[in-house]
Amino acid sequence: MENLFEQLTVGKLTLPNRLVMAPMTRSRASGGLVNALTAEYYAQRAGAGLIITEGTQPSVLGQGYTDTPGLHSAEQTEAWRRVTDAVHAAGGKIVVQLMHSGRIGHPALYPDGALPVAPSPVASGMQLYTLDGMLDHPTPRGMTLDDIAQTVRDFADAARNAIEAGFDGVELHGANGYLIHQFLADNTNLRTDGYGGPVENRIRFAVETVQAVVDAIGPERVGIRVSPGSTYNNISESDPETLYTALVRALAPYGLAYLHVMEASDRHLTERLRAEWPGTLILNPHPAGHEGPATPEAGAAALRDGVADAISLAQLWLANPDLPERIKADGPYNTADPSTFYGGDHRGYTDYPTL
Ligand code: PHB
Repeated sequence: MENLFEQLTVGKLTLPNRLVMAPMTRSRASGGLVNALTAEYYAQRAGAGLIITEGTQPSVLGQGYTDTPGLHSAEQTEAWRRVTDAVHAAGGKIVVQLMHSGRIGHPALYPDGALPVAPSPVASGMQLYTLDGMLDHPTPRGMTLDDIAQTVRDFADAARNAIEAGFDGVELHGANGYLIHQFLADNTNLRTDGYGGPVENRIRFAVETVQAVVDAIGPERVGIRVSPGSTYNNISESDPETLYTALVRALAPYGLAYLHVMEASDRHLTERLRAEWPGTLILNPHPAGHEGPATPEAGAAALRDGVADAISLAQLWLANPDLPERIKADGPYNTADPSTFYGGDHRGYTDYPTL
């Protein structure tokens, strides 16, 4: 697995290895503010070639879970500074994932109890976890053209805040059934205007958001994550190959830092996207027949096959702050404890031991 330890240039960054820490919601940012524990958690994992933070809302209505961090106020921006400083002091590189949840939101998360927004008023059928139990997501409010324009601006403003906070760049969350994905997928986007209908229209929100964020901070600091064919959060795509080929073709001219693909067992589609994408491709490898979290072995194979340039892993990073050393030593690995994934304190967060 030596190929995981080769250097890689991504945008203007030189990564010492090809092991990327995937974004993971941890729900410990009370009031939307990251804190000293957040800084410790990420700094412990600075041996990653690149850290991608947990999903971070670019606006109040972008929030989808309890105690996720924001990047839409001066106070939130300032709070992140302590995290980026800690990671940089430890020799790491870190980008923030900007995640707008769209219909995967709930009035209980918003100060004024507003409805979540989405391309179309189609309920998720999912629920919000709260300390008071599970709450059904309501039917979201369909976005007006003004809402769309404002949301694109919110992404750009959050990207500016990210640079202000010391991040090396941003990743736009276009995967896993959140807002950008809700525009892409034909079961969540029933619009009859220029943002809905044929594939050229369904990719418009993603492309306009990329354009605005590129204008704000420069293409070499922008990545985007997609999950072709994933059904997470009750997404259903009738045409993943057409859809993602069109999206990747539309994004190719921008010269982005990277495309991050969360594979849903369709290696053929990953290869198609690899062929269409001129830049760095980060893969969360889930080849057919591999159940469970992505593995370094699957990652090394994908690098060897030329399908990807870097590999993102989630649970292994969560539970193994010194993951590169453990891969070099061929393990052993700590096992991630699902009971401490979301919320709580340092337990299951900063107390996973190193070798
Ligand atoms: C989650 O918190 O369940 C979650 C968040 C973002 C993702 C996937 C899952 O992309």
